[in-house]
Amino acid sequence: MTMDARKIGIVGAGAMGSGIAQVALRHGHKVVMGDTNDVAIARGRGAIEKAFQREVEKQRMTDDQAASAMAVLTLADTSRGMDLFADCHVVIEAIVERLDVKQQSFRALEDVVGEGTILASNTSSLSIASIAGVCDRPERVLGVHFFNPATVMPLVEIVPGLRTAPDVVAEARALVDGWGKTTVAAADTPGFIVNRIARPFYSEALRLFDDGEADMATIDWAMRDVGGFRMGPFELMDFIGHDVNYLVTESVWTAMYFDPRYKPSLTQKRLLEAGLLGRKTGRGFYEYGDASPREAPTADRATGERIFLRILAMLVNEAADAVHLRIASASDVELAMTRGVNYPRGLLSWGNEVGPARLLEILEACQRESPDGRYRPSPLLRRCVRDGIPLPT
Ligand SMILES: NC(=O)c1ccc[n+]([C@@H]2O[C@H](COP(=O)([O-])OP(=O)(O)OC[C@H]3O[C@@H](n4cnc5c(N)ncnc54)[C@H](O)[C@@H]3O)[C@@H](O)[C@H]2O)c1
Repeated sequence: MTMDARKIGIVGAGAMGSGIAQVALRHGHKVVMGDTNDVAIARGRGAIEKAFQREVEKQRMTDDQAASAMAVLTLADTSRGMDLFADCHVVIEAIVERLDVKQQSFRALEDVVGEGTILASNTSSLSIASIAGVCDRPERVLGVHFFNPATVMPLVEIVPGLRTAPDVVAEARALVDGWGKTTVAAADTPGFIVNRIARPFYSEALRLFDDGEADMATIDWAMRDVGGFRMGPFELMDFIGHDVNYLVTESVWTAMYFDPRYKPSLTQKRLLEAGLLGRKTGRGFYEYGDASPREAPTADRATGERIFLRILAMLVNEAADAVHLRIASASDVELAMTRGVNYPRGLLSWGNEVGPARLLEILEACQRESPDGRYRPSPLLRRCVRDGIPLPT
């Protein structure tokens, strides 16, 4: 079968698959989307239809454009085969986060697609090497990691596996750039860029709370009002849901050979075990609902500064270490954190403004108190301080 250069395949009609489908449809592609679950197929179609209707109401799309986009969308049950993807130029997999199921899907895709088809995975936590490793042609496999919701979040991490061909990476990146997204290149390492570097935003906040340094409301206040983040860490964890946020932390920690830097908190694990998942269940760290008054923060400026600088020191250290370990370039690290998780500033330039020496001092003081390796400074941060130069940006 000849390949259709404008045809995009999407495996998995869930939240991410449906979002990515919308982006591709809005950019004039034909889209075929497959799922093994009938309910998910119906829900996927409904979600896309509704989203386009909203676009029409907001006059960002005409009725005709919405109708034409829906007319080139095909949804199908793939339980009995992947034939519908046979002539796709690129297939993006966005199914359940299980290695065995993803491997099986990639093998089945390879049986039907043509030589030139690119196969991408939207995985958040599995290695591209482990997915490509079961493929006959691993050189055409890569990670293309969108953020949720895919229609709104501008960042996409492009993750080549060890054996991905450079022209496949360039082609996939050009395609996603053409969709108006900001692409960054990430090495095939746990959490890629964003889900690795953002860990201390949550885990150092939890550590401060677990150590009795401050209450949650005060830590949230400090990060919002002193740091300028849109949400405090506890509010954000409740918003994301502990089923998602805790499991990302645990998976990065496990995949990093239990490095104490990424160690999860039992406080958050207990919430997950108790089914107190955050906003969506009405209770997480906080209670939601009208009759749930919030504890007021101790809005003391000096305390706020101390909390903010400690979490910032950990974030900047993580950003510097990602550059040091060549997980991403300094400029891609800056882009990733501002465009993928809406940080108010790039972490490396923020670190330079506060002063690398000041941040190193904070980490070293924490390390003297807790010498388990959690607070070890990145060699890059140490080197910049020793040589009196700024962190690369
Ligand atoms: N939700 C997020 O915030 C987010 C962000 C970035 C990446 N991701 C990644 O995207 C992927 C999908 O996540 P999601 O949140 O959309 O999940 P989801 O549960 O909303 O959707 C997954 C869909 O895959 C379908 N599916 C499962 N096995 C299948 C198979 N063998 N063939 C075809 N369809 C199958 C399910 O029926 C379901 O509809 C995961 O790899 C996840 O790690 C998720």
